[in-house]
Amino acid sequence: MSLPHSVLQAFEQQFHTFPSCLVRAPGRVNLIGEHTDYNEGFVLPMAIDRAIWVALWPREDRRVRLHSLEYDQTVEFDLDDLRKGSGWAEYVKGVAYVLQTQGYALRGWDGTLSGDVPKGAGLSSSAALELAAARAFACVSDLPWQPAHMAQIGQRAENEWVGVQCGIMDQMASAACLEGHALFLDCRSLDYEHVPLPEGVAIVVLDTSTRRGLVSSAYNERRKQCETAARFFGVKALRDVSVEAFEEKRKTKKGLEEVAWKRAWHIVSENKRVLEAVRAMRANDPARLGALFDASHASLRDDFEVTNIALDQIVEAAQAQPACYGARMTGAGFGGCAVALVKQEEAEAFGEAVLAAYRHKSGLEARAYVCRPSTGASLVPLS
Ligand code: GLA
Repeated sequence: MSLPHSVLQAFEQQFHTFPSCLVRAPGRVNLIGEHTDYNEGFVLPMAIDRAIWVALWPREDRRVRLHSLEYDQTVEFDLDDLRKGSGWAEYVKGVAYVLQTQGYALRGWDGTLSGDVPKGAGLSSSAALELAAARAFACVSDLPWQPAHMAQIGQRAENEWVGVQCGIMDQMASAACLEGHALFLDCRSLDYEHVPLPEGVAIVVLDTSTRRGLVSSAYNERRKQCETAARFFGVKALRDVSVEAFEEKRKTKKGLEEVAWKRAWHIVSENKRVLEAVRAMRANDPARLGALFDASHASLRDDFEVTNIALDQIVEAAQAQPACYGARMTGAGFGGCAVALVKQEEAEAFGEAVLAAYRHKSGLEARAYVCRPSTGASLVPLS
């Protein structure tokens, strides 16, 4: 049975009624533009064909009762008495909290939820859940749906309620993507464009199966280093530093610790790579796009230092395959997934070959997902 069908069936069994809305919010894979979002720069993610689904029905009161099929757990809370707890429901409560802080009048609902976005892998299962929650509240409470605004609400929920200092990329991808396209996003203005993927390519996500704890402290440390570098350059964010300006200042080698120079160079060069990647996509040039993937990985490994051995190994294994145009780590790093740009007709065989090579090198079992670019958070018509 498909995921939406099992969600619908479980809803009907639990609540003895038909849902009034079915919500789908996807995970994402970032094609290029890593750690640039909180530097107010450019990113190029795409929503994937793995998502969180929620079937729901409005209630007369202000309670939310939500059953997760994956955790086989029902959580209930009161919109007039939101309290912090732990676990998956915090993302839903966090969204309710931010919506209410912004003055939206919310209605309660009963819902059933499930998803197939791998967790902790860097494919933004949390952003998917935030956007699914936002869409669910919007559906029962009749709120206008503006993707960028709802993405900001999701981000604030994560920052203020869950306590993770993420940027805006993941929520924007889950909210605003379009089938067949990547999202070229300016993280300062939140202006975006949908850019079609080159013809004849597949996007393969390679999950190293490694997860690292303390990601958030390493992430926050990178953010601080970037802020220090921005202050040194006298700009609001590293987005405002051009390659030329960087190189000019770098000649002096003064004013910043060596590590901050390296972090800043990653951001400055990565922003340029995103703009070039968009040009390569528009020119239908997968070879150029792939080369940019490779360069991005090298920069994340050597300058931003957010890869781990597993990510480096799987990226090398991918790059060694003739069907591969390019590969890089994706997401925050320190473990999780890589992304490869591959000849479409060879995508399945590519995945198997990389898994075998990776197994041989690392002794670990990875997973490969051939991902199709999908649409952002939406209401799915109920027949
Ligand atoms: C995580 C964060 C994003 C972004 C990426 C790195 O996914 O949630 O905001 O910073 O890391 O590009």
